Amino acid sequence: MDRQKLIIDTDPGQDDAIAIMLALASPHIDLLGIIAAAGNVSVEQTAENACKILELAKRQDIKVYKGCPRPIRRPPITAQHVHGQTGMDGPDLPTPLHTPEQQHGVTFLLETLAAHPAHTITLVTIGPMTNLAAALVQAPETVARLKQVVAMGGAWSETGNITPAAEFNAFADPDAMAIALNSGLPVTLVPLDITHRFLITPDRLEALAKLPGHCAKAAHAMLTFSARFDLNKYGWPGAPLHDPCTIGYVLCPHLFAGKTINVEVEVSSPLTLGATVVDWWQVTGRPPNATFLRSVDDNGLWTLILESLSRLS
Ligand code: BDR
Ligand code: CA
Repeated sequence: MDRQKLIIDTDPGQDDAIAIMLALASPHIDLLGIIAAAGNVSVEQTAENACKILELAKRQDIKVYKGCPRPIRRPPITAQHVHGQTGMDGPDLPTPLHTPEQQHGVTFLLETLAAHPAHTITLVTIGPMTNLAAALVQAPETVARLKQVVAMGGAWSETGNITPAAEFNAFADPDAMAIALNSGLPVTLVPLDITHRFLITPDRLEALAKLPGHCAKAAHAMLTFSARFDLNKYGWPGAPLHDPCTIGYVLCPHLFAGKTINVEVEVSSPLTLGATVVDWWQVTGRPPNATFLRSVDDNGLWTLILESLSRLS
């Protein structure tokens, strides 16, 4: 299997951190760089958090680029109530020596796409889609060189997690998501319909605790921290683990199923801002613009994550 070239656009976030670790652990992924997004916390903080993960995994060779500091046309919203003050509360990780590059994340994305053969790079977005949208506004013909976009965002039958109608990444920058969905790029959405089926139960957390290595220890501390909020909120047997599902899909698409259909996002209504309108039954006649995933082999995905984290030091 050829190594897949990947750029991750992220707002760590404990679940983002596990997604990054999963990518770092895979011999099948060539991670070209990380773009920090404003989302769970400020872009300054998400960039620092990404650097912390890379330093923990001893992968300072991978560079971090700060992206846009705020959404396209709305004030920023954050999620410290879920992720803690740093956005990545749980483990006690030192201030990293590894620091973000001077180059802007959007410039990095465009220059990297221009420097590689067309349709060889996958962009994984696991935060609000602001940087992708900014790149699309700036140079759509360069962004069209992407092989695909795999995005954690949106929901259909699970409706919302930050409002009754909207998933966090969609709600934080719905205008960006609308630009991405209408760009003509091949977009795969990994929505709450998937991530609410992928729960970190006490058994899974215990299995993680038994793994050796600093990364697995940090992952365990992070998931223990983030579970405190979600277990109380949902009352489920485990807390959903969102962002690693994207990397899981890149590595093992056979673990997932969905349909290529039309998905739009609400950008005006104060009541339903960020809601994804998913034409699952294809009743609108609107052209398909996204592959919307709806089912996952959660045991298969967990096995992949556990095996992967056991390979990191
Ligand atoms: C998404 O929101 C963020 O808080 C998580 O990191 C994930 O990307 C889930 O709705
Ligand atoms: Ca995220």
